[in-house]
This record gives sequence, C-alpha cells and structure tokens, in this order.
Amino acid sequence: MDEFLEQIRRSGVTLTPELAAAFAGLPREAFVPDGFRRNGGGWARPGDDDFLSLVYQDDALVTKVRDRLPISSSSQPSLMALMIEALDVRPGLRVLEIGAGTGYNAAVLASIGATVTSVDVQEDVAGRARAALARAGVEGVTVEQGDGYAGHPGGHFDRVIVTVGVAGISPRWLDQLEPDGVIVAPVDHAGMHPVLAARRPATLADPAGPLTAGLVCHAGFMTAAGPLSATHPGSFPPAAGARELGELTEFAPARFDPPLEGIPYRDLWYASGVWDRRTSHAAVPGVQQSSLALIDDDRSGGAVIFPDGSVRTAGPTLLGAEAASILDRWIAAGRPAVSMWRVGFTLTGDPEAPIWVPGSWELTS
Ligand SMILES: C[S@@+](CC[C@H](N)C(=O)[O-])C[C@H]1O[C@@H](n2cnc3c(N)ncnc32)[C@H](O)[C@@H]1O
Repeated sequence: MDEFLEQIRRSGVTLTPELAAAFAGLPREAFVPDGFRRNGGGWARPGDDDFLSLVYQDDALVTKVRDRLPISSSSQPSLMALMIEALDVRPGLRVLEIGAGTGYNAAVLASIGATVTSVDVQEDVAGRARAALARAGVEGVTVEQGDGYAGHPGGHFDRVIVTVGVAGISPRWLDQLEPDGVIVAPVDHAGMHPVLAARRPATLADPAGPLTAGLVCHAGFMTAAGPLSATHPGSFPPAAGARELGELTEFAPARFDPPLEGIPYRDLWYASGVWDRRTSHAAVPGVQQSSLALIDDDRSGGAVIFPDGSVRTAGPTLLGAEAASILDRWIAAGRPAVSMWRVGFTLTGDPEAPIWVPGSWELTS
C-alpha cells in the first residue's frame, strides 16, 4: 500500500494525511471484482498473477466497454486525489457524486467522513457499486440509478463532485447545493475535460453569470450520457480521426527545443481552446498521442500544432496562420499554465434542460 501512495505522490499530488489514510484503508480490488481492461488489450481478472499489482497502479481501470469505448471505470487515483482536494471535503459534509462507476471514489470520500449520494445512469453499474461498497464494508454512501443531470431531487448538499466529462454545470446541482458550496467537475474544453472548481454564489438570477470557476488540473474523462453532454453554441468540434484531415504539409517550423512535454503542451492546448473555438484534437498517423488541432468548420482541413511548436496544415485552410498566431499569443502571455485561467459561465442549451457552460475566460496573475 505504501508503494501505491508513493505512486500517487509521484504524479505531483500532495496527499493530506486524511486522504492518504483513506486510500490506504480501502481495498481497491473489491471495487473491480469482474476485472478491467488491460492497457495493452485483453482483460485482467482476479486470480491473474499480476491482478493486484495492476489494481494498485496510479492508473484508471476501465471496467465496462461498449463498441470498444470505455463506458465505466475507476478513475486514476492521483486525479481522484486532486479532485477531492479541490472539493475541500470535511467530515460531516454531504456530497453529491455524479458517476458512481465502481464506487471507489465514493468510498474514499466516505472514508474522509463525508456522507455521499452517488448517481450513475447505468442500472447495472449502480448495482455493482452498491455491492462493492457493501463488500468493502463502507458506510455512509447511497448509490442511486438516474441521469446525473437531475442530481438527487429533494437532496441538499455541501459539495458536488462530477466524475464523468460534462458540457457544463447542471442548474439542478446548484439548486441542491448550499450557498458557498463547491462543485468540482471535468468540463469539456477543446476535446479534453479539464477539471473546474466553482463555488455556488448566493444568487443565480443572471443568465450570463455570476457563476465562475478556477481550473484544478488537466484531465480526460469519458463523456456523460444525456443532457450533460449537450452541444451548445460554444461547443468544440469532435476530434478528427487518423487521416481525416488528409495529407499534412509543413506550415511553420519547430520553435520549442526541447519540445513541450505533457502539461505545458496541454497548457498551450487549453489556451488555444480559449482563443479559437475550432480547437480540438486529431489523430495523426505515426504520432502516438493525439495532437492539438484547429479543425475547419466543414472538416475539410485543419492545422495541427505539435509539441515542438511546428505547425502542419491539411486541406484548403487558412488555419495555419491562426495556429501560428495562437503560439505567438501564448508565448507573449508568458506561457500561462491552465491554473491561471478563470472561467465565467453562461446558461444555454435546451430550455427543458438548460446548462451552465463556460462562456468567458480571463487570465489571473
Ligand atoms: C469514470 S466513471 C466514474 C468513476 C467512479 N467515480 C469511480 O470511482 O469508479 C463515469 C461513470 O459516469 C456514469 N455516467 C455517464 N453519464 C452519466 C449521467 N448522465 N449521469 C450519471 N452517471 C453518468 C457512467 O455510467 C460511468 O459509470
């Protein structure tokens, strides 16, 4: 268990003693009794020689797949830790979780002393989460089946944590949240789901505000079902598949040596999404990770910004110049990290199921 905690810390997370005790006290394997998808393909099952060592990696464990796409999982523990830390959970607080999944995150929250209501849209997933929590002897968690857009009708909460990618914040969660309560949610931005932390203001009358949020960290989540993944006027284009953009030709040479690694590349990606709504990602043949791309509205072409700052374009597009100017702007702004942005929300979408989505951004110092 010490090695598990060390792995979580190696991802740059400072575990509070309470959170470390919660992770150390819970058998993660009890939450994945039917196993999970191996990273290289195939299924890891209890009884496999490496099962427990895989369970105690700082990795997401995909527990349910449909058409080869993950539709339920246990999130990456270091990401869970960052989100729980941002949630500012204390013993006795009432937490609404959207996306029960395996029940493991709810169990961690309950181990810190919260009372948790967790909602999952999939009946079988909710049932398995209930069984896992009982098997692990966790008390203080109720699992409900339902669309998380509705929250838990009739409930009152001090915190809301969302563990599935959403287009924005459901007004129902705000209705059920105490003033000054915190919502932590991965909200769609340029094809990723960076995690936002918002505090519920006393009033929410103005449809153009006053809900605002800070950025917790970069993340990628599976997308929610139902109105929580609604498209809206500020939605970003879907990712482009391999070769969808056509043949790429060089537009601008490399400018970062060494190339931007992991987090700085995502910082640039986030800023690109703020400055250009055509930002998404593209699968580029020969490149393992997906790449930051501006995609033409009619999807006839686009521009890809690579970690070394080079730009390559495809199709009849002017997006190469736009991509280069995003790079100029990000560099001129001092290469802002994602945590430097503050987001303002706007109420939009289907009048039957409106949703607060990010609509304005400012850089804080
Ligand atoms: C990444 S998993 C959640 C991880 C979970 N918290 C854990 O600790 O294992 C995302 C879950 O969100 C659920 N989900 C998707 N759309 C939903 C919605 N609209 N309302 C509630 N749950 C939803 C999925 O069924 C899936 O189980």
